[in-house]
Amino acid sequence: MIGRLNHVGIAVPSIDAAKATYRDLYGVPESAMTETRELPAQGVRFAFVNVANSQIELIEPLGAESPIRKFLERNPNGGQHHVCFEVEEIYAARDAMLAKGAAVLNEPRIGAHGTPVIFIHPKNSNGVLIELMETPKAARA
Ligand code: CO
Repeated sequence: MIGRLNHVGIAVPSIDAAKATYRDLYGVPESAMTETRELPAQGVRFAFVNVANSQIELIEPLGAESPIRKFLERNPNGGQHHVCFEVEEIYAARDAMLAKGAAVLNEPRIGAHGTPVIFIHPKNSNGVLIELMETPKAARA
């Protein structure tokens, strides 16, 4: 079974502009936002906006081949891209998903939190792209 909701992924044309929205409209202080970083292998720039009980992951395309580009062509102002739940062990989660016939979109790879992640096709989850991420070891009680 999935664990806690880790974050909601929002694709945006500009992380800087999106950070300004969370700061100016929703009152999130800069100190609650991470530096913008890059994951070149996945074609994204990203930053996290910390809120009381979860995080918003802002994702911006990086490079011409970024998988986020197509999404932004359909949603030019940005939009909700994925929802991420934590799992205890990524390979066990992948095997369970495959055994249930779900479309696992990638082999486990290191995600924005530095732990391995997989994505499950939206067709398996009411049209929502689901990210499963291994709980960071330091966060385990
Ligand atoms: Co994510």
